Amino acid sequence: MTALPCRPGPIGVFDSGYGGLTILSRIRNLLPEYDYIYLGDNARAPYGPRSFEIVYEFTLQAVRRLFEMGCHLVILACNTASAKALRSIQQNDLPGMDANRRVLGVIRPTAECIGGLTRSRHVGVLATAGTIKSESYLLEIKKLHPDITVTGEACPLWVPLVENNEFDKPGADYFVRQHIDRLLSRDPLIDAVILGCTHYPLLYPKICAYMPPHVTVIPQGDYVARSLKDYLRRHPEMDERCLKQSRCRFYTTESVEKFRESASIFLDCPIEVESIVLE
Ligand code: DGL
Repeated sequence: MTALPCRPGPIGVFDSGYGGLTILSRIRNLLPEYDYIYLGDNARAPYGPRSFEIVYEFTLQAVRRLFEMGCHLVILACNTASAKALRSIQQNDLPGMDANRRVLGVIRPTAECIGGLTRSRHVGVLATAGTIKSESYLLEIKKLHPDITVTGEACPLWVPLVENNEFDKPGADYFVRQHIDRLLSRDPLIDAVILGCTHYPLLYPKICAYMPPHVTVIPQGDYVARSLKDYLRRHPEMDERCLKQSRCRFYTTESVEKFRESASIFLDCPIEVESIVLE
């Protein structure tokens, strides 16, 4: 690994593809003064069906690259990467790379908020197969709120629906309804459902349309953003190492044109993108 730059740098935001843009936009909304680098590993997405070892390897490559680009703090804005790679990177890799740099995920902040959002204490999680299989939401929620019952439902077709721009078309309704019905039939007491995948906020109107009105649907972007703000307040030494000139750069492992076009689904302004190779 090349020597890491010491001067202040942007906050790194990593996702397997485009979904993390839903998190980035909420973070930039709350913390507009900071600089950001968004890195999407679009060429190798989706991560959802991939093995633990592969998601870990790809995520570590991305974290290394963001550190080399000057980031001191990296947010894994991908539930699958947070579920399968975050702990290993924090415990095994970070100390050897630079003990002062940090990598944070999106599952813990979401688990923290859930205690105040359910009255029945029965919560559902909709996510990729990888996130559900990892049981990360179950473990994190149980740690913080032992009285909450958690039921997970993998929705393997939802990411492709979003990636292929079908999320607001009538064909998506069948698949959205199917997973909501399955989740609620497994635990009819659920009154709060976490959207545990960064792509799912784009399906939010359809999800709400098929969810009974007493069930709160929870996109995680605002909770991740608030948690980051709180983290920077509690860690002034890290805050000092974050540049604050309101700039944002975008990198993708896919073609620049493809990223720019698809990113427009997630963001409402034109962006400058560069292509990179992760290895
Ligand atoms: N960004 C991923 C997540 O939040 C979903 C896309 C993928 O499967 O790569 O889990």
